[in-house]
Formats: sequence, structure tokens, C-alpha cells
Amino acid sequence: MNVPLLDLQAQYVSLRDGLHQAIERVMVSQRFVLGDEVRQLESSIADYCQAKHAIACASGSDALLLALMALDIQAGDEVITTPFSFFATAAAITRLGGRPVFVDIDPQTYNLDTSRVADAITPRTKVIMPVHLYGQCAQMDPLLELGKRHRLAVVEDAAQAIGATDNERRAGSMGLVGCFSFYPTKNLGGAGDGGILTTNDDEMAQRLRRLRTHGGVTEYEHSEVGINSRLDELQAAVLRVKLPSLDEWSEERGKKAAIYSRLLHDAQLSFPLIIPYVREEGRHIFHQYVIRVPGNRDALMEHLKTRGVGTKVYYPIPLHRQECFSYLGYKEGDFPESESAARETLALPVYPELTEAQQAYVVDAIRSFPH
Ligand SMILES: Cc1ncc(COP(=O)(O)O)c(C=O)c1O
Repeated sequence: MNVPLLDLQAQYVSLRDGLHQAIERVMVSQRFVLGDEVRQLESSIADYCQAKHAIACASGSDALLLALMALDIQAGDEVITTPFSFFATAAAITRLGGRPVFVDIDPQTYNLDTSRVADAITPRTKVIMPVHLYGQCAQMDPLLELGKRHRLAVVEDAAQAIGATDNERRAGSMGLVGCFSFYPTKNLGGAGDGGILTTNDDEMAQRLRRLRTHGGVTEYEHSEVGINSRLDELQAAVLRVKLPSLDEWSEERGKKAAIYSRLLHDAQLSFPLIIPYVREEGRHIFHQYVIRVPGNRDALMEHLKTRGVGTKVYYPIPLHRQECFSYLGYKEGDFPESESAARETLALPVYPELTEAQQAYVVDAIRSFPH
């Protein structure tokens, strides 16, 4: 049996007609950038994320960049974030000359350890940027409280977490700005790159709209320098076809996760394997199902590959160990939890159409690992 890490074909087959009609609608309109499709997507995403505004842009990476531009991050400003994330999280900060100030993660959730954030605040701190990793919200209340107390903006990197909740609040609705990615592998993925920002703040929404179109107040009048980060109509049309299924897909992912956790628990493995921890206070949308295998991760990954099971490591090198950030002066050992997560974690295949037989096969393959 072959179990790929992700199978987008299955989703495509189920939505084929709707997708083709949507693409045709855009082709017939010959309107390709920031038109009605984008406006309607923005309105639906704002509703879905329980935010007042949604502003579409070209990618999740640009969403982060735009959010920090709108907060006037510049040389020397500090942004507190996690070193255990996708590269874009820190890159958005450094592209503006800002300084990522990393805080280690909670080893259970892989999200920012909120108890350590206060110690990282300095007079130069401008923003706290938690990442809702793998589809589970960071613990937001302590961060919002710190933000309020120190007058810092909280920006949510919710690229992996559309529809996740923390105490009934949706990802992207809690901080000043939420940043989402529509990269094809995300729970809500387009047919290419795409992203969106959410905010409840009217002025922030207006500024983000300007910044994504070169800072233009009108087409040829510019109050500031922005970037070109518009969403295509084709992407918006595709995403609009998919959005009504998103909750069902995320529920299915949650069910698959529960099945894995039960099967792995019952498998009586002869080596340590830690299943994902799910916070009681929220909804985990299982963008990834990530296990932890102390000491054996790479060998298990190799073994699963020979058995036809796709796996992936998110992320093998923590951000403070990336060569391009060596100037920040961090060294091995500075963030031990992130470093051990980078050594020990492994994502198993999870997607709504994954079958129970496939899951049983994956767990059997894990059980047969000769360590
Ligand atoms: C946590 C996180 N932040 C930011 C991004 C950037 O999103 P995009 O790939 O759409 O630029 C991603 C996407 O992979 C992500 O996982």
C-alpha cells in the first residue's frame, strides 16, 4: 500500500465541476486581479474567522510582511516570536530591518511558551507574533494580556490554523492582525499562492488595503510605499468553491487524528512515541498530525519510506540556527525545546480522505520498525 503525506487528487475529484465552473467564470469575465471574486472571498473569510475585515494578498508570507509594515516595524525594532516555525515567520521581521527575538516553545504544543515571553520584552519590543503551529492555537490570553500591559501589538501567524479556536475565539480574530496562507497544501488551499489578513480594526484594514497595492490612496496617488501583493481572481474563485467544505474537512482531519492517537496508543510499541497533545481550550484543525520519536526519528522516517508511507519533518532546523540569521548571535542550546522538537518530530499523512485502512497500515508500519 502507498500512503502519501497528502493526496490533493481526492479533494479535486469531489469538487471538480464546481472548480471548473469557477475558473470558467473568471475566464469569461477577463477580470484577473482584485475583482468581485476577491471581494466576496474577503467577506466570506471575515465571517468565517469572526473578524470585521479580511484583506486578501498574494501569500501567507506577504500577509506577515504587510502586517508588520502596517505596524511600522523598522530597523532595530524587536518582534518576539518562536524559533520553531516556517522560515517566513522570521523573514518577514528581518526584511523590514526588525530583529526577531526568539522565545522557546512549550514541548507539548510546539507553540510559544507563554510563560517565557515577559522576560523577552525590552524597550525596543513592538510586536508579539505567536504562530498557531500545525493547526492548534497558541495560548492567546497571556499574550494578549502582555500586549495590553506593554502596549505591544499581537500579530497571529495563523497560516496553518484557519478555523482553529482558543476559548471559542477563532484564529486571526484575537490579535490586532491575523495572517493566513492559502498555499495548496493548507487546509484551505488554492491553486497556487495566496494569503489573507484579518483584523477588527478599521484603520488597520484600510492601511493594509493600501499597502498591498503599492501604498496607493488612488491608482496614481501614493501616501507611502507599499508592495504589490494582490490576490488573483482565479485563486479567489477556487477558494470560494472550497470554503464551504472547510469545516467538514477540518472535522475529518480531527477524526483521523483521533484514530491515529487511539491506534498508536493501543499498538504497544516497543519504543517511545509521543502523540500530539490537544489543548482542551480550543479546536485543533490538524493541519499536520505530528508525532515525536526521541532518538529514532530519522530511522523511523526511512523505515516508513520503504513501506510506502509519506512523512515529513516540519521543521528540521529551528530558525535561530539558520545561516542567514547567524548575525542575530544565537547559538545551539539557546532554545533546547525547539532544538529537540526539530530532532524528534515527524508528520504522518493526514487529510480528510485518508481511509481507516490506510491509517491502520501506517500504524502497522510504525509497529514493525526494527529499532
Ligand atoms: C507558519 C507559517 N507562516 C507563514 C507561512 C507562509 O505562507 P505562504 O507559503 O503562503 O507564503 C507558512 C506557510 O507555509 C506557514 O506555515
